[in-house]
Parts: sequence; structure tokens; C-alpha cells
Amino acid sequence: YLQGLADVVPPFSTDGTRLDDLVRERLEPGPYGYVAGGAGSGDTMRNNREALRRWQIVPRMLTGATDRDLRTSVLGTSMPAPIMLAPVGVQSIVHPEGELATARAAAELGLPMVMSTASSHTIEEVAAANGSGPRWFQLYWPNENEVAVSILDRAKAAGFTTLVVTLDTWTLAWRPHDLDQSYLPFIRGVGTAIPFSDPAFCAPLAASPAEDLNMAVLRWVGMFTGTDRRWDDLPFLREHWDGPIVLKGIQHVADARRAAEAGMDGIVVSNHGGRQVDGAIGSLDALPGIVAAVGDRLAVLFDSGVRTGADVLKALALGAQAVLVGRPYVYGLALGGQDGVKHVLRSLLAELDLAMALSGHSSLDQLTPDSLTHL
Ligand code: FNR
Repeated sequence: YLQGLADVVPPFSTDGTRLDDLVRERLEPGPYGYVAGGAGSGDTMRNNREALRRWQIVPRMLTGATDRDLRTSVLGTSMPAPIMLAPVGVQSIVHPEGELATARAAAELGLPMVMSTASSHTIEEVAAANGSGPRWFQLYWPNENEVAVSILDRAKAAGFTTLVVTLDTWTLAWRPHDLDQSYLPFIRGVGTAIPFSDPAFCAPLAASPAEDLNMAVLRWVGMFTGTDRRWDDLPFLREHWDGPIVLKGIQHVADARRAAEAGMDGIVVSNHGGRQVDGAIGSLDALPGIVAAVGDRLAVLFDSGVRTGADVLKALALGAQAVLVGRPYVYGLALGGQDGVKHVLRSLLAELDLAMALSGHSSLDQLTPDSLTHL
């Protein structure tokens, strides 16, 4: 599976630590810190990994796991394995082709990509790069309804089937890496391709974003940070999006229940990769209680801290229908563009397949909490 990559970068494994080392050498401190860093002390990021380590696989033998089938379908989207690309904004800070390279790699593998509102390319450009690949759209819910509706309409027209509404980033967290480097991509106009190409966003501007970047950035930052949306506002999204809706950033069982009561289709159990609340629960530790409470009513997806095939297996065993990965594929993008993204994801797929095989599981439905022990 290393074929084709040798010319681009030295072969790298999906091991999170090793990828991180390589990327640190490759990127400037600003972009590196933005991608790799977490909120505050970094405890939540560490808790994510710790939680994954404390749940451990108990392998079974002589089960005939010689042929595996990892195919699945989530909310009507088929995928070759229960792995999706988490929405990650401003990808052009690590590679000039940014989300376009990611969209092409995802399509090559048939893995669903979740496109971020904070992308460095427009909805239409990313859809074109993704071609017939499966794609979902992630919304940072702006506090102006006309802009929200316009963005949703564009996403729908461009073939995005499911809406992922991220709730945990209604304002940006305290992120020491970025503060130390005075590095915030949005202030420089990075990650603004969607609003700046949006007619509803641009209509009230006295000059186009190209003519007056500062003014446009101010409008964008004002619209997408410090937003005040409540559970009562969810029917508005339902009214303007006719596909499935997934709430991302759920950690509390009570919020999972509210999502179900609000008629949502799914949730992503996620703490944004430890980038928002410092000192928070490891995301995997939040998963079992949530699955017990709403697993029969909602599609429950998982992210935050997934680095290996074993990590994916653990989340699936605890009831996640699919797992999203963030930084690993962004590291692949930084190291090798489209080939780099593909390489990281193929490695993860191969590792998951082997983890299934060697622990005695030939199908996803055989993965249950009984496949694990908790230390
Ligand atoms: C993110 N994440 C994110 N989430 C989202 O809903 N919209 C976004 O624009 C972004 N942007 C973003 C940028 C960067 C650089 C990172 C690292 C992450 C969060 C992302 O979707 C996901 O929840 C985490 O990345 C999962 O954790 P891991 O896999 O990175 O540990």
C-alpha cells in the first residue's frame, strides 16, 4: 500500500505520534500548532487518548475470521468501512490544494467526507473535486438566518446529503498554541471561501471581500463566533434541510436525549479533538452511556483521539455506527497532498481490518462491549 507514495514522502505509519513528529518538522510553527494543538492545558486531548487506552480488546481465537466484511451504511450513506473524514476547516494552511486534495482522496476510497463551513475552498469546488463520492456538509450555524439558508441551499444543490451541525464551537476556545504564535487563520481571511462566495453573506457589504478583506472578515467573525442558538431553534434547520441532520459535539447523556427528543437523526459523540473545553472527559468515556440512552433512536457516531485501527474497533464495539478521524488525515495532507490523505486512510483501513481479524471478528455486528474490557 506504500506504492505511489515513495516519491512524495518517506513511508509513514498511521501511528499518531510518528505522524505528529513528521508534520512538526514539515510545517511552520503557526499552522502546526493550529492543527496539532488543543484547548488550555491539553488535558482533554490527553484524556481522549487515555480513554482509548483504558478500553482494551480481548481477542477471541478459532472464530473463522479469515474473511471480513467492513461495509456499512449510516443514515443512507454506504461506505466500505465505518470510517469518515471529520470536518476540518482551513486545510490550505497545511497544503495549497487543501480540501480539494482531501475530497479527491476520499472519493478514491469511497469514504464519506464531511466538508467544513470553514473550508478554504467553496462548496461547489469541493463537490466537483469529490465527484460521485459520498459527502456530508458541516454547518457552523451563523446567527443570520438568510446566510444559513443560503449556505444550506448551496450544499444541497452540490450533492451533500446529510447535515452535520457542530454545537461545541459557538465561540472559539482558549488555545495557547495559537495565542503564543499570534496565529488565527480566519483573521487573515483563510477558511472564508464559503461565506465570501455567498450572495446572502456579501449582499450587505459595501465592497466585495476581495476589495475590503477586513470588513468581510469582521462580518464573518461576528456572524460565526459568540452565536446564541438554543434547542428551540432546531426546527428552523429541519425546515430548511430535507435530509438527515446530525448534531456534532455531544458529550452529555442528557444532551443526547434532547437530540433524540428534538427529532434529530444522529449525533457525533465528540469533544472537537480536545480543542474546545479544557479538562473535559475523554470522548470514548462518554460513548457507552450515550449509546445506552439513545442508541436505539439515533445514529451514534464517534470522534476525538482516533489514531489506529484498534481505536476504531473500540469505538465500534462500544456502539458507534462509524468513526470520524480528524488530525491523522490532515497530517497526511500536510505530508503528501491527495496521496498523503489516501495513504493515511488506507493504512487505517488496513489496520482496522487486521485488528478485526486477529481479535476474531469477521463482521461489524460481532463487535460488542463484550469484545473489550475496561481498566
Ligand atoms: C477541526 N474540527 C472541526 N470540526 C468542525 O465541526 N468544523 C471544523 O471546521 C473543524 N475544524 C477543525 C480544524 C482542525 C485543524 C482540527 C484538528 C479539527 C474538529 C474535527 O471535526 C474532529 O472533531 C476532531 O478533529 C476529531 O479529533 P481528532 O481525530 O483530530 O483527534
